[in-house]
Amino acid sequence: MTGASRQAPTPERTSVIHPSAMDLSALPRDFVWGVATSAYQIEGAVDEDGRAPSIWDTFAHTPGRVDGDDTGDIACDHYHRWPEDIALMRELGVDSYRFSIAWPRIAPDGSGAVNAAGLDFYDRLVDALLDAGITPNATAYHWDLPQALQDRGGWPERATAEHFAAYASIVAERLGDRVRHWATLNEPLCSAWIGHLEGRMAPGLTDLTAAVRASYHLLLGHGLATQAIRAAAPGARVGVVNNLSPVRPASDRPEDVAAARRADGHTNRWWLDPLHGLGFPADMREVYGVELPERAGDLATIAQPLDWLGLNYYFPAVVTDDPTGPAPFARQIHRPDVPRTGMDWEIDASGIETLLMRLTEEYGARELYVTENGSSYPDVVRADGTIDDAERTRYLHEHLAACARATDRGAPLAGYFAWSLLDNFEWAYGYDKRFGLVHVDYATQRRTVKDSGRHYADLIRAQRSGGPGSPVIGSRAGTR
Ligand code: IFM
Repeated sequence: MTGASRQAPTPERTSVIHPSAMDLSALPRDFVWGVATSAYQIEGAVDEDGRAPSIWDTFAHTPGRVDGDDTGDIACDHYHRWPEDIALMRELGVDSYRFSIAWPRIAPDGSGAVNAAGLDFYDRLVDALLDAGITPNATAYHWDLPQALQDRGGWPERATAEHFAAYASIVAERLGDRVRHWATLNEPLCSAWIGHLEGRMAPGLTDLTAAVRASYHLLLGHGLATQAIRAAAPGARVGVVNNLSPVRPASDRPEDVAAARRADGHTNRWWLDPLHGLGFPADMREVYGVELPERAGDLATIAQPLDWLGLNYYFPAVVTDDPTGPAPFARQIHRPDVPRTGMDWEIDASGIETLLMRLTEEYGARELYVTENGSSYPDVVRADGTIDDAERTRYLHEHLAACARATDRGAPLAGYFAWSLLDNFEWAYGYDKRFGLVHVDYATQRRTVKDSGRHYADLIRAQRSGGPGSPVIGSRAGTR
């Protein structure tokens, strides 16, 4: 495991943040301030208390799949250090914690016998969160499919969606008396497209038919799990989390304009349309040319009424036509002179505003959360052990300002969850990419709140105490 080495930051991105530029007055008074993580990225303890391997254990342990051959075996050791992590959340002053439940801890075989020790872990976590005054927000699936189910075909098979609903019912039954906010899936796009088509995530396939079938069964699983959670936990507020990007053509050539339409279909409409009762987009069915494993009634199941919709936003996409590439035959271009994060992702805060407005105006969203937003940069640990991450602070600041603008324009945004509470296992990038508001020294597991984390705490305090222009906003990041 490595820490990232420092690159020279772009000067204009490290300049002073002006507190007066931040107007949060449009956010509702009861705006939910949160942080997010996911099980495999932080928990470690992969073979403790009856947990069985997931597809990510298999993928990470396959040489060459993950940078540095890093694995989630230990990660942030959150499985043992969760009390300390809850204390950190209290220090930041957040209202809510979005975490995911590891399916292979609850049903190691994917279906069948329930592992009591796995349920007990989340039971303790939820109780401790509530004792700390932090509202739990649970995600049932953040990519860690039990390997046993993958061995039986995984998401390309309909049975996986049915097993997912059974597992969701088990966790909702056990935790639903205390957990009100549930998400079924996190970012099904990554599971289907990156995991089954691009091969850069578990299970590492490059098979369009498998990918399209997986996308269908993930959405079906969402619908079935929504019904199961509601049945097991009356009063549950159930939503789903998508990672979306505004898509623009690289030029006004008709080929690029058409490519942008396809990329929008692939990234955004393929997920949003069926969730909102519009069915699978006809143009994209044609692009994929794969028969969907449809059965009567499925579309209605997928389009369960949503109590809320989660948006994960990181970057916009500018695409060009790519007739020889994989579906959707649109390639994201690398534009020079555009500011980027340490992931090499373009920075465009207006993208989050655009998407929040689209979900509001085009899809009629009634309650929205930004369920993830954040940035990875190589942090500088100062001699005194504190962490200088002015670029992350700026990213956070700019995106929150854009959220406030969307709210002002009518988006029903009820909360924001920063990704992530902790530096953690960034999937195929391993530990080199750091998204945390809290730095983790993986050799010692020491946690240190970064400047961005302190800035976030300042913003939360300022918004609660009355909002804009409060002198506390930007006090740290702005003075360096
Ligand atoms: O770390 C991931 C997370 O698991 C899902 N959304 C994007 C994050 C940053 O890549």
